[in-house]
Amino acid sequence: MKEYKHIPVMLNEVIDFLSPKKNQNFIDCTLGGAGYTVAIAKLILPKGKILSIDLDKLAVRNAETVIKKENLKNIKIAHGNFKDIAKILQNNWENPQDAKINGIVFDLGLSSAQLKDERRGFSFQLDAPLDMAFGAQQECSTEQIINNWREKEIEKILKDYGEERFAKSIARRIIDARKDIEIKNTKQLVDIIAEAVPGKYRNNRKIHFATRTFQALRIATNDELNSLKKALPEALNILTKGGRIVVISYHSLEDRIVKHFFKKEAKDCLCPPELPVCRCGHKAGLKIITKKALPASAEEVKKNPRSRSAKMRVIEKK
Ligand SMILES: C[S@@+](CC[C@H](N)C(=O)[O-])C[C@H]1O[C@@H](n2cnc3c(N)ncnc32)[C@H](O)[C@@H]1O
Repeated sequence: MKEYKHIPVMLNEVIDFLSPKKNQNFIDCTLGGAGYTVAIAKLILPKGKILSIDLDKLAVRNAETVIKKENLKNIKIAHGNFKDIAKILQNNWENPQDAKINGIVFDLGLSSAQLKDERRGFSFQLDAPLDMAFGAQQECSTEQIINNWREKEIEKILKDYGEERFAKSIARRIIDARKDIEIKNTKQLVDIIAEAVPGKYRNNRKIHFATRTFQALRIATNDELNSLKKALPEALNILTKGGRIVVISYHSLEDRIVKHFFKKEAKDCLCPPELPVCRCGHKAGLKIITKKALPASAEEVKKNPRSRSAKMRVIEKK
């Protein structure tokens, strides 16, 4: 199959913070183009292993081609959702109860291979079926959202997940349009958005007028925020003491989920401040390594525009 090149974002920082050593074990929750996986796999030879997960069959097949070329035998690929990380480890590791996992990485969102895939509806620059699912088993499809959800629900996801200023008029326009036709492809949707937003917004050169709507629909289709919320505690649980989790996110809502989870788990007590003594008994499970989210370097942003919105957070298990 054709091999897609995905330039991994913040690869040097990922390797610096995870600091993979001979014979250690890792989990890459978002295999994508296998950039992180291959780099880590080489550093943990001869006995270290890496389990790499992706929800997207295309990513899995693409990564298999890349890995075959590298002739690396210490990578186990699992097709699945990282929200099931504990179960995936259970099913894909020899003696999972003894698995010593030294690091886990999440590089959220979509890869350039997915964006360029003409059979999918991730890009507003291609005309493709309205399908933004990473995997096949999503509860709802993008087409279903657009053609069946109520106006208020569509407006809400555009506002919440896309921070779209014109959420209300775009949702209204979608409802009007679907009275006459079924909205089945990305070009139809782009035309509808174009009609719903003012000319100044439509002609904005910095950000395409459909960007925020497409982002919101992708997040809703894949229930991305809930997957992340479920995966983080499971990942912390799996990790060995002293092991690290690195998360790279590209959206403020994702970063907020990561930040809140890490902050909460870094505290010894979660009781309300007015309680004189601790009743919850909660013990800090991690140490925060990056006090603030780390952006990509200016040099990287110049070379790879995708890294522009990247935010990295790192913790270490106590
Ligand atoms: C930004 S890419 C990862 C790129 C990768 N770090 C590399 O070095 O090439 C994100 C990947 O995560 C996958 N993905 C997104 N959400 C997922 C989930 N909940 N479970 C598993 N994989 C997911 C996407 O299918 C995509 O291939």
